[in-house]
Amino acid sequence: MKKIGWIGLGKMGHPMAMNLAKKGYSLAVFNRTKSKMAELIEAGATGTDSIAEVTQQSDIVVTMVSDDPALESLALGPDGIFANASAGNTFIDMSTVSPVLSARIAEESKAKGLNYLRAPVNGTVIQAEASTLVILVSGPEAEFEGNKDVFETMGDKIFYIGSEEQARFLKLSINMMVGVSAIMMAEALALGESGGLDWDQMIEIIKNSAVGSPVVHYKEQTLKNRDFTPAFTAKQMAKDFDLILEAGKAGNVPLSVAALVRQNWSAMIATGRGDQDFFGYIDLLEELSGLKK
Ligand SMILES: NC(=O)c1ccc[n+]([C@@H]2O[C@H](COP(=O)([O-])OP(=O)(O)OC[C@H]3O[C@@H](n4cnc5c(N)ncnc54)[C@H](OP(=O)(O)O)[C@@H]3O)[C@@H](O)[C@H]2O)c1
Repeated sequence: MKKIGWIGLGKMGHPMAMNLAKKGYSLAVFNRTKSKMAELIEAGATGTDSIAEVTQQSDIVVTMVSDDPALESLALGPDGIFANASAGNTFIDMSTVSPVLSARIAEESKAKGLNYLRAPVNGTVIQAEASTLVILVSGPEAEFEGNKDVFETMGDKIFYIGSEEQARFLKLSINMMVGVSAIMMAEALALGESGGLDWDQMIEIIKNSAVGSPVVHYKEQTLKNRDFTPAFTAKQMAKDFDLILEAGKAGNVPLSVAALVRQNWSAMIATGRGDQDFFGYIDLLEELSGLKK
């Protein structure tokens, strides 16, 4: 039985780890805010007190944390994962982070004899709970094959796409399209609203039209109910757009639409909407358009 150590029990990490626990994997967990470990422990996981403890008792360590600074300190920090893992162990990071940090982790993995898989995910909390995430994996192929069962416990569409940073780039490319879609949809809805359209009917018809992509389907209730409880916050989207723009700059790829849309996330944060779901941009746009009742 594989011994898995899981670090990061946030909105996504919690349901993902829960699915491993429910499947009966030998699972040890660590989260900076300790209270978030309680339900996992109830479900059979072992709670730990430190990165050192969770790493030392695991063959595979998985991280699902906020951003580059969090991953860098957890993985490469003085008492972090790399300081406590043994050669031959596997390190899987599922967070959305920069290709630059990921490449550094790959180098450190080589030096330490660790097997490193990048496995960022598409989908949000609902998909994480239902084990229907899309998981993009790059790294050593044999290692991917050996851990497919772990990924299949969390997602239903698993893609192996290369031996280096391919998964990082594809994750950013897809999120760019998701973020741009949210702003485009908000502008479309505000325009329709200004023309007297019925709110629910307009969303229903867009959902069933040529532009009714999966993201429009799974955000249907968010929009209809104007319930912007975060699955993915505007601040998180701003973080991803910064990663997208940095990667574009590094490769001299002009990302003019992404650069423009980055400004909308700033506007959300500046107006106190940073912790709302990123689809909450419609609320700000209604205000700017004089549509707020
Ligand atoms: N939410 C989504 O829909 C979604 C979808 C796809 C991908 N992602 C990506 O998945 C990752 C996690 O997202 P999330 O929504 O689960 O985020 P979240 O709810 O904010 O959770 C973040 C996790 O990272 C931990 N963390 C942050 N900084 C840390 C530090 N310095 N040291 C130790 N732990 C730290 C947090 O610990 P505490 O509990 O102590 O704060 C928490 O466990 C992000 O990279 C995000 O971009 C999210």
